[in-house]
Amino acid sequence: MAEFGLIGLGVMGKSLARNLADKGFALALYNRRVDGLEEEVAQNFIKEYPELSSAVGFEALGAFVGALEKPRRIFIMVKAGAATDAVIDNLLEYIEADDVIIDGGNAFYKDTDRRFNTLKERGVHFVGSGVSGGEEGALKGPSIMPGGSKRSFEIVSPYLTAIAAKDKNGQACCAHIGIGGAGHFVKMIHNGIEYAEMQLLAELVTILKSMYGLTQNEIADIFTQWTSSESNSYLLEITADILRKKEGDKFLLDSILDQAGNKGTGGWSTAAATELGVPATMIASALFARYTSAWRNERLEASQIYKWDGLNSASFEIESLRAAYQAARIINHHQGFHLIDEASKKYQWHIDLSELARVWTNGCIIRSHLMESLVDVLKSTNRLLINASIHKQVNAQLGSLKHLCALGNKTSTPMPCFQTAFQFILAYSTEKSAANVIQAQRDYFGAHTYKHVDDPSGPSHHTIWNND
Ligand code: 6PG
Repeated sequence: MAEFGLIGLGVMGKSLARNLADKGFALALYNRRVDGLEEEVAQNFIKEYPELSSAVGFEALGAFVGALEKPRRIFIMVKAGAATDAVIDNLLEYIEADDVIIDGGNAFYKDTDRRFNTLKERGVHFVGSGVSGGEEGALKGPSIMPGGSKRSFEIVSPYLTAIAAKDKNGQACCAHIGIGGAGHFVKMIHNGIEYAEMQLLAELVTILKSMYGLTQNEIADIFTQWTSSESNSYLLEITADILRKKEGDKFLLDSILDQAGNKGTGGWSTAAATELGVPATMIASALFARYTSAWRNERLEASQIYKWDGLNSASFEIESLRAAYQAARIINHHQGFHLIDEASKKYQWHIDLSELARVWTNGCIIRSHLMESLVDVLKSTNRLLINASIHKQVNAQLGSLKHLCALGNKTSTPMPCFQTAFQFILAYSTEKSAANVIQAQRDYFGAHTYKHVDDPSGPSHHTIWNND
């Protein structure tokens, strides 16, 4: 009998299967049959890799489930959305109480919550699990964020922890996140943080090219130098590689169309921020920067009619640029963890932010030196920017961020994420905000009332603003 089953042998499914087999688990693998297109996928895949020699391949779901030990542990790795529902519906014919289904796709957390509750009625455990690290991570050790009941985690954790990446102390980058949709919620915000981290790096490339006049190799060298600093991250490392990559005698980057795609998790993160009332401005800014890039024809037209003047170039110390970058990253992480904290309270997930940061120290796309340092910081605060040690760090960097944003305006260099970071910290640290004007306007035209500054939790007031 097989102890672990896997459904869906796309790129990620295959890598996870090889990783599980490598750890010595007896596997049953299933891939659907589509005549002429997908035939004997599991069987052929098993033949390709020696580590899979004891795995068994199926294209009949009943036989696949029948080959699994009870309680059955079934990992689904199919396209998020309707395909996941279809697989679960089909499985329901064969599985029984105490079996565990793990969905490792980038599912929408509210779908995960719905599936969790529907399957619970039948006594079946549903684990919505974030899995990060791409193809290579899935093969060599991803970061894994399982959500679901504690009991279901106990049943599947030996397998998930065995294949996960290891943190610097050798502990698995996998932990029970919370019930229902918690695992997929944090994976969604992981991706949101990823969007802003990627956008900041993309903006740095523009800044170093247009403001500093540097070549791609020179920029790559700077990024490589930064990998020895507190700014080190997986995304920084890969961006240095990308900058150096040539096709023939041309930089590959110059041949790549400047229109960013997305698969939805950044949009979902932004929607969650609006729903929870959390100012995750950097995720939103990075998402909208992608959308702006995608309207390419309009951009080309606008570029013909709007002409920007100002300085052609400007530069300041590279170390100050790095400081500005680091400040913006801290603000991004502050907002991402704030969003998770609010969702955790609303849905009573009791997410341990420090443990989540630990799970994100290796295997995932946003692993970084900063993330490692946050494991400790998040033990004593849920709000990074008002923690004393973070304040000390960021305060020393904010002058550089301010200077960079000013130079960006002087040279008409688009840097939406850097500007958003600076505007956020300005507003966040303002004692008297402009919101009294907003409240007065709301009361003027809509009698929405306002609170008195001397009595913030006291009665609401309404004023007749205009007697005409
Ligand atoms: C990961 C990645 C992975 C994927 C994103 C990309 O953690 O391994 O985040 O999930 O790369 O889906 O999302 P976009 O296509 O929206 O950029």
